[in-house]
Amino acid sequence: MPEARSRGLRAVSDLPRLRVIEERDAPAVLDAFDDDDMRRQGTIRTLEEAENWVSFMGGRGERLALAIDLGGHMVGAVVVSSIDQENETGWFWYWMHRDHRGKGWMSRAAVTLADHALTEMFLHRLELGHRANNPASGGVARAAGFIQEGIEREKFLVNGVRIDVHTYARLATDPWPETPRLPLDL
Ligand SMILES: CC(C)(COP(=O)(O)OP(=O)(O)OC[C@H]1O[C@@H](n2cnc3c(N)ncnc32)[C@H](O)[C@@H]1OP(=O)(O)O)[C@@H](O)C(=O)NCCC(=O)NCCS
Repeated sequence: MPEARSRGLRAVSDLPRLRVIEERDAPAVLDAFDDDDMRRQGTIRTLEEAENWVSFMGGRGERLALAIDLGGHMVGAVVVSSIDQENETGWFWYWMHRDHRGKGWMSRAAVTLADHALTEMFLHRLELGHRANNPASGGVARAAGFIQEGIEREKFLVNGVRIDVHTYARLATDPWPETPRLPLDL
């Protein structure tokens, strides 16, 4: 294979793409949840629990759950759930496998899905909240065009400590951020 073509293919495969979550993602989900920083995302300790999570998330209707796919392997998830068709709203959340954080991929995945939800899915308002002691999540939210609306004071009790939650939303009419998008295969 010519060198330039080989370099080109490598560049493409080094960038994740977004696709729907599939049954084959269960082992990757199980591995991702083996992480103290994922405790607030739920508990997945067995392959069966991971298969149930994947099966639930893969269903369409009340949610759209996307895998962040790197070379065929799921490394993260970005989700619009609790979709309220009457009010055209949805709840937005995300996680990235511990080995793939800090590369800007989550920000890119989040803005890509948020754009899609506010256009193709005809939603008007996406909402999210993150713990005040999870600043990376706030970075993702802002990069994806979300605007902070408030602070829910001392909402959670985590290991005996009360934690504020920062609430954000992005409206279909808000300015679109310049964060680069990821390929989206639906
Ligand atoms: C939150 C999470 C998804 C962030 O993933 P990530 O791979 O670090 O995200 P990105 O690389 O896209 O970067 C996020 C942004 O936060 C910033 N950031 C990262 N760590 C930070 C920190 N400790 N303080 C402030 N900002 C931080 C980054 O610089 C980046 O901002 P930028 O684009 O302006 O540079 C990841 O840490 C995670 O999965 N955590 C566990 C699950 C979780 O908490 N999910 C969110 C629930 S609300």
